[in-house]
Amino acid sequence: MRVVMIGTGYVGLVSGTCFADFGHDVVCVDNNPDKIERLKQGEIPIFEPGLDQLVSQNVAAGRLSFVTDPAEAVGEADVVFIAVGTPTRRGSGYADLQYVYAVAEELAPLLRGYTVVVNKSTVPVGTGDEVEEIIRRNAPDADFDVASNPEFLREGAAIEDFKRPDRVVIGTESPRAEKLLRTLYRPLNLNEVPILATGRRTAELTKYAANAFLAVKIGFINEISDLCDAVGANVQEVARGIGLDKRIGSKFLHPGPGYGGSCFPKDTLALTQTARDAGTPITLVDTVVASNENRKKSMIDRIVRAAGGSVEGKTIAVLGLTFKPNTDDMRDAPSLIIIPGLQELGATIRAYDPEGMEESRQHFSDVDYRGSAYECMEKADLAVIITEWDEFRALDLERVAGLLNDRVLVDLRNIYKRAELEGTGLSYFSIGRPDVTAGK
Ligand code: UDX
Repeated sequence: MRVVMIGTGYVGLVSGTCFADFGHDVVCVDNNPDKIERLKQGEIPIFEPGLDQLVSQNVAAGRLSFVTDPAEAVGEADVVFIAVGTPTRRGSGYADLQYVYAVAEELAPLLRGYTVVVNKSTVPVGTGDEVEEIIRRNAPDADFDVASNPEFLREGAAIEDFKRPDRVVIGTESPRAEKLLRTLYRPLNLNEVPILATGRRTAELTKYAANAFLAVKIGFINEISDLCDAVGANVQEVARGIGLDKRIGSKFLHPGPGYGGSCFPKDTLALTQTARDAGTPITLVDTVVASNENRKKSMIDRIVRAAGGSVEGKTIAVLGLTFKPNTDDMRDAPSLIIIPGLQELGATIRAYDPEGMEESRQHFSDVDYRGSAYECMEKADLAVIITEWDEFRALDLERVAGLLNDRVLVDLRNIYKRAELEGTGLSYFSIGRPDVTAGK
């Protein structure tokens, strides 16, 4: 089928490329000429493992191309996806839909023949109705339907999540649109992936409900980890004990410094805003949003305690800046709260992150960036692991102890086990594991 993907951010570029890899003809459109030029040169503007190779394979196969002008492709398309950003509008929890609406207005007069316009962007319930209205107004004779097809991609695992999804959700009231989208996703039938056909508003809400529930699950285990610290329990063993219950499941039960990223923070705010506007506030998610923000700040106190009560004049080696491993994304990353908080208390910050330092320089010019974890820790007073990159999982802990003046390692991702720490000379602090935390 002929597919147009409007927006080449992390959702649009991954989705467009994977549709091409399914064998469809895909044209990705972006109004940023530099981005399109770089993509034409095979340069991928985001860090997503495996994406560069998948893009070049499909460009070489002639199934994937990049343009700036939608008029070059929309007319021939069977399906046009809207995959542009829906950031949180400043000062409110509302998703900013100006880019979605602008695309709808621009593509309307370009439609030829029956076309399904699909919101792939995460959009509040009812946005599909508005997109349909905009297109109808700008192209009264167009033969089209508007559907919702939310993505459930994790950064760093987006290709895997697209090609082997737990489910595909197709939201439309039009049997014609449903049939066409089922054809589009037919390659997934091979793995018997469930394709759920729902109403458009149901699909829109499903996306928010999924992300909000995952955020609540993380918020839950984070607060349980604090209780574990207080009562002498081990949060990893509690997580295993509850996660073996199939009704709970073991995924997303890793405590950390608080969730970040381009989705959970934005989507939880948008959902609670929609709920308040509908007169049915979702107070649970409101509470998790507040709890998560407080948690990032509470990590500062935890680090100060591990440092012996003050970080004034201390040099702290921060390992990991991105909101999670295998991405260069720092949106709402805990490091954005933790680093300034430590600096305000008089600490000097050094940092190393395998992929995030370029992005970090946009935020922090007064951080001393180093080329590796060990170089970052050399003659620092203490070290803090904020992001659980694989390369922080097998550090030579005796060497680490020798590098750090105070021999203190604060691990906000519970990477190391007690057995690995014995005899290293490190004072090790983690979260929710008082039986593993040793030292001062
Ligand atoms: C998320 C959803 O997983 C994905 O389905 C949706 O489409 C987009 O949002 P993403 O934000 O890329 O994906 O990352 P994810 O792996 O979900 O992690 C989100 C945040 O939760 C990260 O900050 C991560 O560190 C944190 N997290 C995740 C935990 O703190 N503990 C966990 O157990 C899992």
